[in-house]
Amino acid sequence: MSNQQSGAVARYQLLPAVRDFISKPKRMLIGADWVAAASGETIDVLDPASEELLTTVPSGGEADIERAVRAAHAAFDSPAWRDLYPTVREKMILKLADLIEAHAEELAQLEALDNGKSVMMAQIIDVGAAVSFMRYMAGWTTKIEGSTIEVSPPMPGVKTFAFTRKEPIGVVGAIIPWNFPLLMAIWKVTPALVAGCTVVLKPAEQTPLSALRFAELVLEAGFPPGVLNVVTGYGHTAGAALARHPGINKVAFTGSTSVGKRIGHAAMDNLTRVSLELGGKSPMIVMADATLDMAIQGLAGGIFFNHGQVCTAGSRLYAHRKIFDKVVEGVAGAATQMKLGPGLDPTTQMGPLVSAEQRDRVCGYIESGLKAGARAIAGGGAASGKGYFVKPTVLVDTREDMAVVCEEIFGPVLVAAPFDDLDEAVRLANGTRYGLAASIWSNDLSTVHRLIPRLQAGTVWVNAHNVVDAALPFGGFKESGIGREMAYGNIEMYTETKSVLMFI
Ligand code: NAI
Ligand code: MG
Repeated sequence: MSNQQSGAVARYQLLPAVRDFISKPKRMLIGADWVAAASGETIDVLDPASEELLTTVPSGGEADIERAVRAAHAAFDSPAWRDLYPTVREKMILKLADLIEAHAEELAQLEALDNGKSVMMAQIIDVGAAVSFMRYMAGWTTKIEGSTIEVSPPMPGVKTFAFTRKEPIGVVGAIIPWNFPLLMAIWKVTPALVAGCTVVLKPAEQTPLSALRFAELVLEAGFPPGVLNVVTGYGHTAGAALARHPGINKVAFTGSTSVGKRIGHAAMDNLTRVSLELGGKSPMIVMADATLDMAIQGLAGGIFFNHGQVCTAGSRLYAHRKIFDKVVEGVAGAATQMKLGPGLDPTTQMGPLVSAEQRDRVCGYIESGLKAGARAIAGGGAASGKGYFVKPTVLVDTREDMAVVCEEIFGPVLVAAPFDDLDEAVRLANGTRYGLAASIWSNDLSTVHRLIPRLQAGTVWVNAHNVVDAALPFGGFKESGIGREMAYGNIEMYTETKSVLMFI
């Protein structure tokens, strides 16, 4: 292992802190302890650009989840956490944000190494957006309010006092995907900490490294042990054990719709609160009046950002027939020019997909589309050589019943089709079981406003795509999920409301 390890790590210009982190043995954080899995088993962590082994992490299972849930409950009940003033919790979260910012380059390198994404994108989005999100959320810590309410009991003349309290929901089980490993961890953990909860976090088996580094920073920021526990492991073992654990008070999940449904069922058996941020097949609708040069750039970013491994990826392009050819040729041109390479190479525009499994899944979709009669005007399959690279692909001549048009591909694959009028654009846009996001590209305010209410999507962007903000609710219609992250509503997902009625 040590030879292989040095091979992958030696190739890149890495900060000493990243080299040190990669080369030291990885343990999970349970309570105050860094531990191996009870089974002693491990999971290989690969560099998706070279397919070489980087390191291993514990393969946590049911016993480890059990221990972590117990540690999280102990922390939840301990005065060291429970009795902290909101101002103190807020300060800790802000300190954690400062620490993450101070280690931004290191965390971005770790993310690029583990996931394959561009290190510059990782620094701006994965780390930068995570820090902004934390600082925004930290402010809510001191602003969680109940209300006083005038009530009318059935016995006349009684004096009453009634109020509501917002209380932390308890122990949160957070299960996250591999596309934005650190950002997803922070999207779950931060609002839980704001509300006063404690957390058991299970990162994706493909990308566990930044969550373990994050856990170190959480302790450094002064959070009491047990407030955050991290169990690395597979979904069907550690993830499933966490979702069905009766000691978990809320499950927060981001990932595939199929696993989301399974998690929802498991949670419902215990009536565990659950929020699900799931898949998408988001349309990008280009009207004939759009500013095409700007739109083409935005559309290419809409699908190819993070290699299409984005829940809101603009994976279906619908352009008015008058401008269809110009738009798809423009996006195909951008696709063909993208430079593929390791995320740690600063000149790389698109890195590898996260795993061999994802490369094969995405290429399987492309093949199925081509077999069904679609035509690739850019890309069309995997790139040759080492690494899980897939060429940015644009498919035309598609039909609505093709798998490439109705199913989430989660890779750099765009399907494009023309429309003739607004009704047809709406019908096509709403034609999948998903409803996460959509974008409209137009300068005609009247058209834009007539379109917005008709789109089945949790977020609608106009002349933009994939822009998420901590202050704006985010989540899905239809099979794209349940609940809204971001904004104050995100805090409410981690609280229970207690009504108090007193006769005085
Ligand atoms: P996944 O949904 O299996 O993985 C997400 C997380 O769920 C991981 O931490 C995984 O370990 C965990 N998990 C898996 N099975 C579980 C179970 N039975 N119980 C509890 N936790 C479980 O996604 P996967 O397999 O990595 O990717 C497959 C497809 O899912 C992708 O091609 C893409 O279409 C979709 N996906 C969507 C994401 C999104 O943000 N909407 C993120 C990741 C994947
Ligand atoms: Mg999986």
